[in-house]
Amino acid sequence: MNEPSSAGRPTRVLFVCLGNICRSPLGEAMFRHHAELAGLQVRYEADSAGTAAYHIGEPPDERSVDTARRRGIHYSGRARKLERDDFYRFDHIVAMDRSNLEDIQARRPADATAEVHLLRAFDPEPDGEDVPDPYYGGPDGFDDVHDIVDRATRALLRHLEDGSS
Ligand code: 4NP
Repeated sequence: MNEPSSAGRPTRVLFVCLGNICRSPLGEAMFRHHAELAGLQVRYEADSAGTAAYHIGEPPDERSVDTARRRGIHYSGRARKLERDDFYRFDHIVAMDRSNLEDIQARRPADATAEVHLLRAFDPEPDGEDVPDPYYGGPDGFDDVHDIVDRATRALLRHLEDGSS
């Protein structure tokens, strides 16, 4: 059971990409991993979703799972689509690329309580604004995505911790 943070309950973070099978499940898993490493797992809850319905109910892409496993990160879960309720249930919704960000903003209810961010806005080594979509590319793309998501989720956690103190 997670303990309350300074907000009175765990901070909830939702990672969003297009299909919810490559990038956002990794964002969720890496963010959780960094929270655990920092001993902060009781303060955060992470989840992921996609803006599209193509892969609803499917497990994460094996290439993404394999890349993560080689680096000691394990994740499972099933793809789901971003829902209206997410804009109220989560404190932060984090888009993997600018196209995801546009889709999220377009669906954001006027009275939504979640803050919406672009993940790479937190990247300490930004060489672009997007986490590139690796779906149609080769295995190198997944390593790239992993490196970006690793350092950006670590920085996101630091940012949230700084804001909560
Ligand atoms: P993701 O990658 O958005 O990182 O999960 C994709 C997954 C599926 C497709 C595109 C991107 N697709 O076109 O089916």
